This record gives sequence, structure tokens and C-alpha cells, in this order.
Amino acid sequence: TFVVTENCIKCKYTDCVEVCPVDCFHEGPNFLVIDPEECIDCTLCEPECPAKAIFAEDDLPADQANFKGLNAELTKIWPVITEKKEQPADATSWDGKPGKLAQLER
Ligand code: SF4
Ligand code: F3S
Repeated sequence: TFVVTENCIKCKYTDCVEVCPVDCFHEGPNFLVIDPEECIDCTLCEPECPAKAIFAEDDLPADQANFKGLNAELTKIWPVITEKKEQPADATSWDGKPGKLAQLER
């Protein structure tokens, strides 16, 4: 499965959702997750993310390992998103900032 990682938080560009053939992205207030039970490993979303926040599970950086569980957990409580929407006005200024997990809204 593919996993959305920390740099999506507060960037949330949503380009990823348009290419997913099985609609497995779920949307929270300032972060998106992938439903690991729906993802078919098509790889299409990975290059679409301007924040480079999407990784194959097997390629997850060590410091992002906790995001696997976070995607599985939050996908159960957040609704599906299939259409791109406007990114947050300050998305660019958050891109690449460390420690964004503390900013996650549920
Ligand atoms: Fe959707 Fe494919 Fe990305 Fe999985 S790898 S989330 S199926 S676009
Ligand atoms: Fe997040 Fe990247 Fe999608 S920033 S919303 S994973 S395009």
C-alpha cells in the first residue's frame, strides 16, 4: 500500500486524489490519508504530490514509519475525497517544515 506522510500536513495540495483509480484518499482538516485496504499499489499518486509526501510502504523513511498506522486509523473516521480543491493559502510556507505532526488536526 501507499502512505501519506508528514509533509502533507498543512500543505494538502490534493493533486493526488484526482489520479487514484479506486478513490482511496480520505480527507481530514489539514491532512489526507490513504485507505490501506483499498489501495491497489498503482503508483499513480506518488509523482503527483508537489510536497513529495506519498511513499510506497516499503520505501517509507524510517522517521515516517508511524504514518502507516496513522493512515489506517484516520481513514476510518474521515470522508473520501475524489476532487482536487484549493490548497491552503499558506501551503507553500509549510512545505518542508519539520515537526508538522504536532500540527495535525483530527
Ligand atoms: Fe490510489 Fe494508486 Fe495511490 Fe494507491 S497507489 S492511493 S491506488 S493512486
Ligand atoms: Fe497531501 Fe500531496 Fe496529496 S500534499 S493532499 S499528499 S498532493
